[in-house]
Amino acid sequence: MDLFAGCGGLTLGAAQAASDAGLALDVRLAVDFEQAAVDVYQANFPGANAVMASVEDYFDGELTDELTEAELKTRKRIGTTHLLFGGPPCQGHSDLNNRTRRDDPKNKLYLKMARAALVLEPSIVLIENVPTVRLDTAGVVQTTFDFLEKLGYDVATTTVGMHALGVAQKRRRHVLLASKVEGIDPKLVLSDLASRAEDSSFNLEWAIGDLKELTNPTGYDTPPKASAANIERMEYMQESGDLDLPNERRPKCHQDGNHSYKSMYGRLSWNDPAQTVTSGFGSIGQGRYMHPSALRALTAHEAARIQGFPDYFSFSVAMKRADLATMIGNAVPPALMREVGAAVIDLLALKPGTIDQLRLEPSMTGGELALAV
Ligand SMILES: C[S@@+](CC[C@H](N)C(=O)[O-])C[C@H]1O[C@@H](n2cnc3c(N)ncnc32)[C@H](O)[C@@H]1O
Repeated sequence: MDLFAGCGGLTLGAAQAASDAGLALDVRLAVDFEQAAVDVYQANFPGANAVMASVEDYFDGELTDELTEAELKTRKRIGTTHLLFGGPPCQGHSDLNNRTRRDDPKNKLYLKMARAALVLEPSIVLIENVPTVRLDTAGVVQTTFDFLEKLGYDVATTTVGMHALGVAQKRRRHVLLASKVEGIDPKLVLSDLASRAEDSSFNLEWAIGDLKELTNPTGYDTPPKASAANIERMEYMQESGDLDLPNERRPKCHQDGNHSYKSMYGRLSWNDPAQTVTSGFGSIGQGRYMHPSALRALTAHEAARIQGFPDYFSFSVAMKRADLATMIGNAVPPALMREVGAAVIDLLALKPGTIDQLRLEPSMTGGELALAV
């Protein structure tokens, strides 16, 4: 089950781990309240039960209340769930959001993951978020941690750098992993992930170098438009070779020397991973999103690649550019769930009989399996 599923970054990672082991997923429920994201999810995982709804429609009780009627119905309809994962909205926790950070009521949606665990009793729970979720004033991570422990789970948390998982991006994510399965120790799984070394070969040249020349670009590959002022800024950086725009070339309101603005209007480098990709990847005024060698910000295709989405994952049903930018910027790099999924499958495989019950026809492999999910 994937809650706050977006376009399916976490599900894709789980599907990749499963397909590598000759298994497939049975997605009993994937929920998001954005229709465009659900459409993309469903197009890529046609066998999944993807629903446009609020997570609160399925889990409407407070954390420690008796199960509600809706929750009993959810449990009856969904049945046994082995794996529950989700990335609740994180704008309220993010350092990028100065206005409402850390006391946004949306932060409480994190607790819906704990509530869903109470309702469905999955074997494994994974919750992904921004690293600053730990600083939430309501303490949602600790509350969830304690609650899951009381339910009998072993629980661990850590912060994982996506670059070390083979993603061309310096994105860091907070992960809570809980397991009721004997032999799956969340602490060990997460400490392995957190201790991986970064490999500098996963840079922008590797991720998007083949998309340099946009021949007949349309849709996914359409270059974003820039204002005359931003074109001038990009011309300056292209000619000077600078990666940071000098202060005097920034808009007046960004000239106060505040360091959090340093990466704004910046140019990316072929030899490095990108900074965190947000839905603003199409404008250099939103972050360091100028293409390393072209006079433009990133296309949706490049942003998706930098998030780690392979080209077989299709965004073609998303008709509006704004929807595409939001779902790509919101997505969790699939590598996270792929690595956690692979570790869990490996550990399960140590237990004779467990994995054989799940095995699929050997003729189905790779992309075929991803599509069969
Ligand atoms: C961080 S994104 C999740 C990304 C997703 N896990 C992925 O890997 O692509 C959070 C998602 O939660 C959705 N969302 C926010 N509040 C919601 C709610 N109350 N019910 C359902 N979906 C919600 C947003 O539309 C957004 O797609």
